[in-house]
Amino acid sequence: MSEFPTMIPEEHVAQRDAFLERMLKSASGVFDIFSVYLGDRLGFYRVLAQQGALTSTELAAGTATHERYAREWLEQQTVAGILEVEDAATDVTARRFRLPLGHAEVLTERESLNYLAPLAQLLVGATRPLDAVLQAYRTGTGVSYADYGVDLREGQASMNRTMFLQQLGHEWLPAIPDIHTRLQADPVARVADIGCGAGWSSIGIAQAYSKVHVDGYDLDTPSVELARANAATVGLTDRVRFHIRDASDPALAGQYDLVTAFECVHDMSNPVGALRAMHTLASERGAVMIVDERVGETFTPTGNEVEWMMYGWSVLHCLPVGMADQPSAATGAVMRTDTLRRYAREAGFRDVEILPIDNFFFRFYRLLP
Ligand SMILES: C[S@@+](CC[C@H](N)C(=O)[O-])C[C@H]1O[C@@H](n2cnc3c(N)ncnc32)[C@H](O)[C@@H]1O
Repeated sequence: MSEFPTMIPEEHVAQRDAFLERMLKSASGVFDIFSVYLGDRLGFYRVLAQQGALTSTELAAGTATHERYAREWLEQQTVAGILEVEDAATDVTARRFRLPLGHAEVLTERESLNYLAPLAQLLVGATRPLDAVLQAYRTGTGVSYADYGVDLREGQASMNRTMFLQQLGHEWLPAIPDIHTRLQADPVARVADIGCGAGWSSIGIAQAYSKVHVDGYDLDTPSVELARANAATVGLTDRVRFHIRDASDPALAGQYDLVTAFECVHDMSNPVGALRAMHTLASERGAVMIVDERVGETFTPTGNEVEWMMYGWSVLHCLPVGMADQPSAATGAVMRTDTLRRYAREAGFRDVEILPIDNFFFRFYRLLP
């Protein structure tokens, strides 16, 4: 028997109650994400990971925050199951809270492939221009990438950073023998990285292949500035350069042995133009690799786990951003293989091959000239 009054036929009550439960769980999940954002940005997790169990007064002192806020957050995190409390029964300001090691890796270990704090930053970023997104739904226009702001840009960069630094040049590219061989050979190979964002993919390639030169292209100025700063930090400015350019600009010139595009073709208003430019940049001898979301081959009501999340990004960010410039292909994050194949053929490629590289979120495509 449902505890809620019945306003619908009895046979729908179980469905209603299950959905109510799901909505309430989702609300708690949203609070998890937003409170992780607070803990990450304010340095709470970092200080807890470094200093062990702390009182609210100690945490506030270690992070230059206000004790009352720190205490509320510590208690909320404990009830949410993210932190543990050592002595719940003692006086409120004497209680010690700790970050369990398993959670610390996910929330604070930037070099771990399990680092997921950026997911919270990315999600918060995706909600920043919500009013503009609502307006875009009504008018059929879009929302510019810049309007999503620094959290979206930095969250995106940090989400992919470890994979790009640890897997791209050490697992993914070595799995494609001819590309792997070319990147190690002479004359020095040149790589164009389209839609490079904060540049970690370009840097990952250059770090793994000690001779290659990489040009990263992106039309978002703050992203390119961030990419340049990242290249400087890792001491690669001699071999990795970043350029503010629209990938669909037919004037994009150069000749490259490898042309890549990571998680960006679906965001482009003119993906065919960008692929055409990639075709030109690769000319006769170069390879073209696109890495995009591992969604299903067709729309099915149940989708898959990745697709469920990708539709989430799409409704809040990827579709609006892709529709900011008109006319637009209006792709959205759920770019299926057939859609990419259609774009690729329009851009002059013969076909699209799915590369046998395993990744939970990404599918790897090679565009055949
Ligand atoms: C989702 S982000 C991916 C960034 C980066 N590749 C990564 O994986 O972290 C998409 C990027 O594509 C860039 N972008 C979108 N349209 C573009 C275009 N026409 N030319 C160049 N860059 C573009 C955006 O500015 C943004 O940096």
